[in-house]
Amino acid sequence: MVCFFFLSSIVLLSCDTDEFDYQGGKTDFEDVYRPQIHFSPQKNWINDPNGMVYLDGEYHLFYQYNPLGTVWGNMSWGHAISKDLLKWEQQAVKLYPDELGAIFSGSAVIDKNNTAGFGENAMVAIYTSSGQKQTQSIAYSTDKGRTFTKYSENPVIENPGMADFRDPKVFWHEATNKWVMSLSTHHTITFYGSANLIDWEYLSEFRYYDGGPYGIWECPDLFPLEFNGEKKWVLLVSTTNAPNGGTATQYFVGSFDGLSFKADPAPYPLWLDYGRDNYAGVTWSNIPDTDGRAIFIGWMSNWNYANQTPTSGFRGAMTLPRSLSLVQHSDNYLLLGSEVVSEIESIASDWNSVFTGTIVNESKTVEMGITAPPAYELEIEFSDVQDTNPVLELSNVHGDIVKIELDLLNGQLYFDRRNSGHVSFNFAHFPGRFSSPVHSGLDKIKLNVFVDQSSVEVFINEGLSCQTNLVFPKEIYDQMNIVSDNGSLDVNIGVRVFNSIW
Ligand code: FRU
Repeated sequence: MVCFFFLSSIVLLSCDTDEFDYQGGKTDFEDVYRPQIHFSPQKNWINDPNGMVYLDGEYHLFYQYNPLGTVWGNMSWGHAISKDLLKWEQQAVKLYPDELGAIFSGSAVIDKNNTAGFGENAMVAIYTSSGQKQTQSIAYSTDKGRTFTKYSENPVIENPGMADFRDPKVFWHEATNKWVMSLSTHHTITFYGSANLIDWEYLSEFRYYDGGPYGIWECPDLFPLEFNGEKKWVLLVSTTNAPNGGTATQYFVGSFDGLSFKADPAPYPLWLDYGRDNYAGVTWSNIPDTDGRAIFIGWMSNWNYANQTPTSGFRGAMTLPRSLSLVQHSDNYLLLGSEVVSEIESIASDWNSVFTGTIVNESKTVEMGITAPPAYELEIEFSDVQDTNPVLELSNVHGDIVKIELDLLNGQLYFDRRNSGHVSFNFAHFPGRFSSPVHSGLDKIKLNVFVDQSSVEVFINEGLSCQTNLVFPKEIYDQMNIVSDNGSLDVNIGVRVFNSIW
C-alpha cells in the first residue's frame, strides 16, 4: 500500500546494523496491551508476516520490521522461530536495506534439490527490493535460517515500469516441475515461473473486476487445498478495498494448470476475515505432506491506523495461526474456512461450562469464573433460536465494552467496538460496527471467541466466517452478558483460559 515506500531505507544503509540486533534480555511483556497468546515483537514496529517456512521441526516467521522505531520505515526482515506456532523465540534481524532499497514483503522456500545452486535444502528468501523502483531479489541460508547471504546478482526480476510490483510468494509446482511466483502488480496478480529461483519468465496475469472501486492488490498467495478428493487452488489477495474499511484479505477459489489461475464462479469478493485487523496474511511453505495443513497467519492491524495504535515500545502483532479449509456453501460455491490451529490446546486449560439454559427477554449476566486471565476463549452455542437478534456483550469494570450482535434473519454478525476502550488515537477510522455473513441457517449458531489483551477474534460456525478486531480496553474484558430481548434462546457457554506464550 502506501505511497511512502520509496522514502525508506537509506537511513540504515550507513549503519553498523548489528547494533540493532535483538540480543534477548529484559522485555516488557507485561504492558497492558501486550498480546499474551499472539506473536508481537519485543520492541519496535512490525507489519506483514514474511518468508514463513517450516524446516526440521521449526516454524520460521519473518516479518516486516523497523529496527529503529515504532512506526513504519527502514523496512527489514525481522525473524522469530517456533516449534509449535505459538511460543516464539525472537531472533536477530535477518535482512537489512541495501543499495537496491528497503526489504519489502516476500516468501521463503526450501530448495530440496538445490535448483539454485546454493546448497541442498538451502532456505531461499524471495523478497521485494524497494528503492527507486520495486524489483525482486533473493537471499539464501545454509544454516537453517540463522544467517542469510544476499545473492550477488540481485535483482532477479527487473521492474517492467510499474509503481506496484512486489510481495513475491513462491512454491514448487510439482506437475510442471518448476517454481511458481505470485506477484502483486497494481490491480492484478502476475505469475512467473523458474527452474532455479534465479531466472524467471512471465506466465500469466490474473485480474478480477467486480464493478466496484478497485483497491491495490498486495501480498498474494496461491496454494492447493483438497475438497472432496479434488485439488482446488486458492488465491489470497490483500487489498486496500476492505468490506469494513481500510485493508483486508480476499480470496478466489479455482484452478491452476501451471500457467494461469482461473477463478470458479462465486459471489466475489469473498473475504478470508471480515474484521478490520487481519491483513497481508499468507500460508506457510514446506509444511510436510504428513501434516498437509494450509497454515495461515496475518498481520493484526489495518493501514488506516496501524501507525497510531496505543501500545508502547512495540507496535503490531500477528493473528492466531489458523488452518484453512474449503467448505461447500449451500449456493454451490466453495468458501474458505479458518480455524485456530490445534496446537492451541497446548496452552489451554480444560473447558469450564459456565452456563446452560434458556434466556428469555432478559440481559443475563454470566459469571465467567476468571480473574485477569492472560487470554481466554469462549465457546457459545445458540440453539432453538426464537430471538433472531441475540447479543453477546464483553465488558470490564471500567465500562469498556464490545458487542457481538447476531442478525439471524439477515444472516449477519456485527462486531461493535465503538466503546471498546481506547479508540480516540484515530477517531476517524478505529471505532465502528463491522458486519460479516454468518453463512448458515437459524437452527444452530456456534461462536468461538478468542480474547487477548488487545484483540478479539470471532469464528462463526467452525470458522465459516470470521472477524478479527483490535481493541484497547483498560483491562481485559472479564464480564459477560447475553442479551435476548426479543424472544428466547437456548444457550450453552464454555470458557477456557490460556497460559501466556511469553
Ligand atoms: C502490505 C505492504 C506490502 C509491502 C509491505 C511494506 O502491508 O504494503 O505490499 O511489501 O507492506 O512494508
